Amino acid sequence: MNGNDLLSRRRQALAPAYELFYDEPIHMVRGEGVWLFDADGRRYLDCYNNVPSVGHCHPRVVEAIATQAGLINTHTRYLHEKVIELGERLGAKFSGKLSACWFVCTGTEANDLATQIARAVTGHHGMVVSEGSYHGNSDLVLKLSTSSYPAEDRPDWLAATEAPDTYRGPYRAGSEAGGDEALAERYATKVSEGVAGLADRGYQPAAMLVDSSWDDNGLLIPPKGYLPRAASIVRASGGLFIADEVQAGYCRLGESWWGHERYDVVPDIVVLGKPMGGGHPVAAVISTPEIAAAFGERVDYFNTFGGNPVSAAAALAVLDVIEEEGLLENAREVGRHLERGLAELASEHPIIGDVRGSGLFWGIDLVSDRESRRPIEHGEAKRIVSAICQAGVLMGLMGKHGNVLKMRPPLPFSRENAGHALEVIDTCLRRHASLGG
Ligand SMILES: Cc1ncc(COP(=O)(O)O)c(C=O)c1O
Repeated sequence: MNGNDLLSRRRQALAPAYELFYDEPIHMVRGEGVWLFDADGRRYLDCYNNVPSVGHCHPRVVEAIATQAGLINTHTRYLHEKVIELGERLGAKFSGKLSACWFVCTGTEANDLATQIARAVTGHHGMVVSEGSYHGNSDLVLKLSTSSYPAEDRPDWLAATEAPDTYRGPYRAGSEAGGDEALAERYATKVSEGVAGLADRGYQPAAMLVDSSWDDNGLLIPPKGYLPRAASIVRASGGLFIADEVQAGYCRLGESWWGHERYDVVPDIVVLGKPMGGGHPVAAVISTPEIAAAFGERVDYFNTFGGNPVSAAAALAVLDVIEEEGLLENAREVGRHLERGLAELASEHPIIGDVRGSGLFWGIDLVSDRESRRPIEHGEAKRIVSAICQAGVLMGLMGKHGNVLKMRPPLPFSRENAGHALEVIDTCLRRHASLGG
């Protein structure tokens, strides 16, 4: 069946809300490590997908799923060692008292549950999020995803505070006399204002929910003092701090297992998703025994598929592979290589206004004018990302203006893979410039 037939069948069978990547959609049929193969046998270097965190179809994950599926798959209402082991091993990966786990299937469900927990245990209803955030798609979580709907439709109980964007936001790196500390303070003041706004509308905060990589803002790495300040402002009003680690978690930023650890702040609740099952749908909420007990007194939570033995086996295999293959160290090492390579690219291509990131998560902010930092048009960015794809490297776009090239490969991405990706980006940007942009 050729790609055009598949496209027309898809148009008939799937709701139009489903989007496809790239000007020329690709029909992928197989994945292996950091490579994807299309129906014509062409291979692509995957610089985009974080869900297959330990590489596409990692044999350990495939084996764990198949073996467990052949034994038994039920739910959390029977005893099973795998789900318990998963809870124990995840709990050991967090500082503080974060050791009580709930298992769900998607990041959306996890954020929905985390919000319910925060509201139940604090007795407050307000929520604080960043402008331009994305946390999922349920009725509740979509409201927390300020990038997804018009500002005038925001509920009264929501405070959307300025994201700490030190490149294009109101307070910029290098512009504050006090340096990073002053910047952190400026953006934290926005959180105070958000909390005060909630109070004016009759709400107290149940929690502040933050994506520790600000992925939907085009990936932000704010000054270290911002998040601890923001968390303590919300806590002073009786709210909790929830770290959404769906993007930043599982070694993505190369420094430590979880994105929030970069900021020396211990959350009250952590949300995990995407990379957790190495391609299998499994997600989690983790909190302290006290918060878990307080929620348990009010709610008898059950999730049919959350924490089933097959999902638990997949998630355990992911933990094993990361530890045994040294993938945190790999993300750190290859991340340094990428940092140098991307800085070199930026020095040669005026279209690159900013490069930000860490480990195996990078954003290349494309601008039409470095001085004003004006983003290139989304259509132009799409042409660039499509050209990179046609050259055999998969990347995406992110940020409010859809102008930030997103690089977020599976964790076994090597220095050689990084070198290849950098070369392709370089060639495509050169060609783009020679055609007049
Ligand atoms: C930061 C963040 N949180 C939550 C979600 C929602 O996860 P899911 O699509 O598994 O529901 C996403 C998805 O892109 C995300 O980026």
